[in-house]
Amino acid sequence: MTAKIDIGVLVSGSGSNLQSIIDNIEKGRLDARIRIVISNNPEAYALTRCRNHGIEAVVIRQEDHPDRESCDRAMVEVLKGKGVELVVMAGFMRLLSPFFLKAYPMRIMNIHPALLPAFPGLHVQKKAVEYGAKFSGCTVHFADEGVDTGPVIIQAVVPILPDDTEDTLAARILREEHKIYPQAIQWFAEGRIEVRGRQVRIRGVEQPKPVVLFNPPLEER
Ligand code: GRF
Repeated sequence: MTAKIDIGVLVSGSGSNLQSIIDNIEKGRLDARIRIVISNNPEAYALTRCRNHGIEAVVIRQEDHPDRESCDRAMVEVLKGKGVELVVMAGFMRLLSPFFLKAYPMRIMNIHPALLPAFPGLHVQKKAVEYGAKFSGCTVHFADEGVDTGPVIIQAVVPILPDDTEDTLAARILREEHKIYPQAIQWFAEGRIEVRGRQVRIRGVEQPKPVVLFNPPLEER
């Protein structure tokens, strides 16, 4: 039995990743407690999810602070006040300042809907379809000062199909996001994540199967 880790979740929008974390906790599959959710958007549906599950949430907006760092100081104060050990960015559409990163070194995770380092930044499902990429996916990584550049913890791969639109691809990727984020947090809770430079190792994890995917599929001759 793993001791529960206290997490704080940062959101801006729908919060479906937050929901998958809540569901995994409620099913006893994730040894975490959500001590606080912080949204930078008062309209975020994620806040309704918090109300539905009795989770404390606050809105902290950069517009209400003179600059990004003072906004981040306010967020860190709330998180530390709640005893948060791991910060989980779940669709949080803002870059964190160096002050915030220093307050939680290698203790801030982010999820990104592409196979990093391909397609960092915004609107990446659209970019992957328009590029004509044959695979995309999602990445959980530690946050650093760059845009989607920190050490990678886990990735999932999905094919891009010929008729895909931004929305169909986003939905396919999101289903996998909802699996890999709770897994990464559980590894953290179990103290199994080792970071050396860019290399992240999960202690005691099985080797991945040496599968190769082709898209389009190879044809038998
Ligand atoms: C996800 O695709 C996530 O990877 C990205 O923003 C989206 C947020 O979705 N960073 P949700 O708010 O968790 O539903």
